Amino acid sequence: MKVWTRDVLREFVRTKLDGFRFIVVSNREPFEHKRVGRRVECSQPASGMASALDPVMRACGGLWIAHGSGDADRQAVDQYDRVAVPPEAPEYTLRRVWLSKDEIEGHYSGLSNQAIWPLCHVAFTRPVFDPAHWRMYRRVNERFAEAVLEEAGNEPTFVFIQDYHFALLPRMLRNARSNLVIAQFWHIPWPNRQVFSSFPWQEEILDGLLGNDLLGFHLPQHCQNFIDTAGALEARVDQAASEVCRGGHSTFVRPFPISIDFDEHSAVAESEAVAAHMRRWREELSLSGKLLGIGIDRLDYTKGIPERLRFLDRFLEMHPGYRGKLVFVQVAVPSRSALPAYREIDKEVDLLAAKINRRWRTPFWKPVILLKRHFPAVEMIALHRLAHFCVVASLHDGMNLVAKEFVASRTDGEGVLILSKFTGASTELKDALQINPFSIEDGADAFDLALNMHPDDRKRRMHKMRETVEENNVYRWAVKFLSALADIEFPEYAGERPAALQVAV
Ligand code: F6P
Repeated sequence: MKVWTRDVLREFVRTKLDGFRFIVVSNREPFEHKRVGRRVECSQPASGMASALDPVMRACGGLWIAHGSGDADRQAVDQYDRVAVPPEAPEYTLRRVWLSKDEIEGHYSGLSNQAIWPLCHVAFTRPVFDPAHWRMYRRVNERFAEAVLEEAGNEPTFVFIQDYHFALLPRMLRNARSNLVIAQFWHIPWPNRQVFSSFPWQEEILDGLLGNDLLGFHLPQHCQNFIDTAGALEARVDQAASEVCRGGHSTFVRPFPISIDFDEHSAVAESEAVAAHMRRWREELSLSGKLLGIGIDRLDYTKGIPERLRFLDRFLEMHPGYRGKLVFVQVAVPSRSALPAYREIDKEVDLLAAKINRRWRTPFWKPVILLKRHFPAVEMIALHRLAHFCVVASLHDGMNLVAKEFVASRTDGEGVLILSKFTGASTELKDALQINPFSIEDGADAFDLALNMHPDDRKRRMHKMRETVEENNVYRWAVKFLSALADIEFPEYAGERPAALQVAV
């Protein structure tokens, strides 16, 4: 087994990307400064993308450009809007871009999260296509293009763009400076061509993405969907090479399933800090003598939170012996709460949890404990370690890193993962109990199986999933992504390209 570590990635970048500036771009920033009373606190937001990219940046160094969303962010930056992070022991630089209320409403809340997000997640929430959002989306992409170009100067630069907030950015950068090396990772699914054809600005968005040299998705299916969709354009598609050529420029489309820093996560899971939080949770949630099921998600309609509560309801109906015994803790981290669809799901989850508790509660027990706030990683890991099972019930999910984090937390080899077959993670974690989250019976049966699984089977499954996540960690993801650039011809850099752009790993 090849061990992919931070040092392996660091060495890879040092030897192969030597001489190149490395700029990551995303909307969500990896560290946010917030006012808490009179103090300013710096914390990591609830974002799978940001928590996956942060260890990569710690290994590579470089500059990360992102929207400064914290209410004390301006206080923390220098005159160039930069701040060294992580604050306790800086390893890379964060440059913040300031967006106005209108820009955030149009770009983030509007086009990104009311149009592209529901369009790409086939979870039956209708996308909103508003021309004013589209204009703001373009403007914010331009604002980030200016920031990237300013930082890149005339140096050889590799720009690594994250996610669906910046579909127009690659083309803008390519038009401004044709010799930039540009790659993008799309962290959410890409739907089939027919679904995508409802997007009114289809041509512009595809053209924007085809400004990339390399475009990554989690799964081969998402790559195929993208290539089929791009076939709608005036572009030459080479299916065998997974390449789309438009206006003489080629974009290679490849799958790279993202992951976590397994070793670091497992080490934290065994720390005294986590043990202390386990004791606290046990007491606070009155877990003594109880069985614990957990779910940890952003409060998002794609995550299947009402669905899993319905599994619990049905399970208690079918298995009276578990009444008074099973506690289900749902952590629901508030997310995108300015949007109507998110306020509705929030209300639905509240009402459903209350209804289930009313139905089954006894004087000393209630089945659902709903915790609606963001917790630091150590507190979540403590919950992972206390749980008899963890439920990931997404209706559609690019990857889902909660599933991988749960597995990495279980250094004791215990715990069962119930996993929606509509997550990217389900293609790797074959030893989870895979479910169709749209079927209440399926979910309720999985609760039963999880609680009654033979200990040998439970351990065997967890062992195999741990091996998978350990081998396929985030450093492997990063090295594979960067290595894929090796296969690409960059005429602009003939003779002076960094080794990574010449030699396949
Ligand atoms: O999954 C897509 C994504 O943008 C992730 O990158 C991130 O984990 C999550 O959504 C968080 O979204 P937001 O930045 O809107 O809070």
